[in-house]
Amino acid sequence: MELLKAAGYPVLATCGGIALCATCAIEILSGGQYLAPAIDQELDMLDMLPESIDAMRLACQLRLGPEMDGMVIRLAGQDHE
Ligand code: FES
Repeated sequence: MELLKAAGYPVLATCGGIALCATCAIEILSGGQYLAPAIDQELDMLDMLPESIDAMRLACQLRLGPEMDGMVIRLAGQDHE
């Protein structure tokens, strides 16, 4: 989430990264197989999204690591990747 914001993407992140707003929701289009599974609080927030699908994650709950290299995402509610 911080990386997306720093890069200028329109991520509101109104809760500051504590999984309470879902304004950082992203869809993992490819390369997400090495991410840690979502915890219950993240899953609860994702369930509240109108476009909730299995590939959605909260960007604020993802830790950057080499496993994310090459991962392709789409911001929730956005048409571009
Ligand atoms: S910044 Fe609020 S849920 Fe991620």
